[in-house]
Amino acid sequence: MDKLLIKGGKQLKGEVSISGAKNAALPLMAATILCKGKSVIKNVPKLRDVNTMAEVLKTLGAVVEYNNGILNIDTTVLTEAVAPYELVKTMRASVLTLGPMVARFGHAKVSMPGGCAIGARPINLHLSALEKMGADITLDGGYVIVDCCKVLTGAHILFETVTVTGTENIMMAAVFAEGKTILENAALEPEVVDLANALNSMGAQITGAGTSTIEITGVDELKPLDSHSIIPDRIETGTFMAISAITQGNVLIKRTRVDHIMAIIEKFRQTGVIIEEEPDGIRVIGPEKLTSSNVKTNPFPSFPTDMQAQFMAMMAVSNGTSIIQETIFENRYMHVAELLRMGAKIEIVDTIANVHGVKQLKGAPVMATDLRASASLVVAALVAEGETIIDRIYHLDRGYERIEEKIAALGGDVKRIKYKK
Ligand code: EPZ
Repeated sequence: MDKLLIKGGKQLKGEVSISGAKNAALPLMAATILCKGKSVIKNVPKLRDVNTMAEVLKTLGAVVEYNNGILNIDTTVLTEAVAPYELVKTMRASVLTLGPMVARFGHAKVSMPGGCAIGARPINLHLSALEKMGADITLDGGYVIVDCCKVLTGAHILFETVTVTGTENIMMAAVFAEGKTILENAALEPEVVDLANALNSMGAQITGAGTSTIEITGVDELKPLDSHSIIPDRIETGTFMAISAITQGNVLIKRTRVDHIMAIIEKFRQTGVIIEEEPDGIRVIGPEKLTSSNVKTNPFPSFPTDMQAQFMAMMAVSNGTSIIQETIFENRYMHVAELLRMGAKIEIVDTIANVHGVKQLKGAPVMATDLRASASLVVAALVAEGETIIDRIYHLDRGYERIEEKIAALGGDVKRIKYKK
């Protein structure tokens, strides 16, 4: 398994361009199941998870080509309606094919995603919504089998918990349903809005995306997606903001969307980070010493759970104690044990992490456990004294495009050690 070798202490300076959003690309790729023809998606990041979703689509019979950020997906002929365990177990977002497959074929078979490092991650809300729309759900051999005979029926659905992929899955399932489907307590994330915009450009009738009530009126068919460009990745943006903040850096972050990162900007400013909007992007200037600040993760537009680990790395070297509360996932503190190995002082009490800032972190061999935990280790390693080796960085490759090249271009001392087979 590849490792990253990072020598801390450099102040990062320069410009970085943000890639397309992983969590927008994945549902958009699944949405191509809803049409017969050749779809084009632009600004697609080169990531492991995008490759995995491409493999899932190929399993269904699609022809998928990726070239230089552009995905061509031909779903004219789909021969399968099964998302297999071998792929779903490596990426739970494969479950996003469930809604589109049921909408297109009237049935689908998707492996239960199983848990992951950050939590059980059930899909009960996805399934109960499909049941309300008239589908029969059975579990067999670790697979969810959904059958709605011919077509789903529009329903009024209230999500008891805000679920991003649940909102996306049911929005896609409803595009051919008979009548109107109303989603209450829907997710407000920008990736949901990007998906709704893309579906409407294919001929769907969706209103309310970006609010907590989304309405979908069933139509007969959708035409292929015609060169939709994916929104920038707000979590990659936040990660590079953290990298500049922690290294007393001065970095211009280009090709991002300020309206997608307001909560991150607000929180970072509270820690003494200077953030200025410029014509080409946002400039992030790290202070000599970060000021401690508390944070509680919540659904968009509040501070995102996907930035909790990176923020904790920043607070590990701040001038006081910060209370961090993770409210979305039950086990999203896997990065704490690794940060402790670098000299951080953090106690976990139930869902709360008390982070006592230390003068200096020390480089050490550490291990990535999940995507954003590995990002927090990169943030910490860039300010730690000496050398850090981060193992299992395939977690990082799931969600960050060429991260070591982007950091090196900012003056960071980082090298990828390729695993010799
Ligand atoms: C999406 O995951 C993102 N992934 C996650 O990003 C992100 O952390 C998460 O939303 C929260 O913002 C993609 O978009 C591909 P949820 P998702 O359904 O949709 C519970 C990353 O790092 N829940 O919004 O799976 C669930 O357990 C990844 O890029 C149920 O109980 O998250 C969690 O506690 C990590 N039953 C809460 O809801 C369900 O049926 C929110 O989960 C569905 C969810």
